[in-house]
Amino acid sequence: MRDDVVPAVRAVYGAQDLSSAPAFGGGFINFGHWEGISLDRPLTAEDRVRSQRDLYRCVLGALDGAGARGVEVGCGLGVGAVLAVEEFGFASVTGLDIHPEQVERARRANAGLLARAPERLGFACGAAERMPFGDGEFDRLYSVEAAQHFRDLAAFVREAARVLRPGGRLAVTSFFVPVGAEDAGGELAARLDSFASGLDVAHPVASLTGALDAVGLSDIRAESIGEHVWPGLDHFLAGIDQPVRWPRNFLPAYRDGLLDYYVVTACRPVDGG
Ligand SMILES: C[S@@+](CC[C@H](N)C(=O)[O-])C[C@H]1O[C@@H](n2cnc3c(N)ncnc32)[C@H](O)[C@@H]1O
Repeated sequence: MRDDVVPAVRAVYGAQDLSSAPAFGGGFINFGHWEGISLDRPLTAEDRVRSQRDLYRCVLGALDGAGARGVEVGCGLGVGAVLAVEEFGFASVTGLDIHPEQVERARRANAGLLARAPERLGFACGAAERMPFGDGEFDRLYSVEAAQHFRDLAAFVREAARVLRPGGRLAVTSFFVPVGAEDAGGELAARLDSFASGLDVAHPVASLTGALDAVGLSDIRAESIGEHVWPGLDHFLAGIDQPVRWPRNFLPAYRDGLLDYYVVTACRPVDGG
């Protein structure tokens, strides 16, 4: 499995626990959803954790997952999977991550629920593009800020459609290149180390929605949420002691139309899916 992992991605999520860096916190590793958090004052570490939890709430709220068997792709430390179970009433969630170190961290971080209710939470090591699950095993699939790392978005979508049962639904949130800016990859690499290093891939959002359509999923929607992501993140980063260079370039890239943050949803039709 490790042969699948791109070196730049392994360097960030393998040996280190990025969630403990000052830019993140609370076991999460995402840019956050800041709607409802006042940006007219200095932001706190608690605000930062809330923003990351709220990004999960934004995705899970789109899924109507009460009683569902869920899978999270790119689960990191698995704290969002626990939120899906405890706050959104999923019957069970299996968190999938490509890094064995992340899967181990997730098992340690959530040892309490794993021990109390092992039928409701589990973690597996594997790639989004080749999921270690059977056909139709899940009612809901979601992914939070991981798709920008997937090398082969079409393979991820094929796998998502395969592991969802007919009538199942998915929600993917991450940053993508907006419609009309498809050639932004070079400019993003010039501005942001994460694209230059190969950690992030400049996937056009249209390649995700197009791939979902190509595998026969329906009700495909891509909602822009960038206004709730980058201004808040940038405000938070401006206030922390440690210099954080590359993520502060995201806000100008968003304002210049090179990048946006989306929640993409789709359903597997009951007939012919
Ligand atoms: C930015 S972190 C997000 C973690 C978590 N979703 C959160 O919001 O806290 C991205 C995660 O995706 C995982 N990842 C990267 N590429 C992957 C792939 N191809 N398949 C599965 N997981 C992957 C990384 O190991 C990392 O844990």
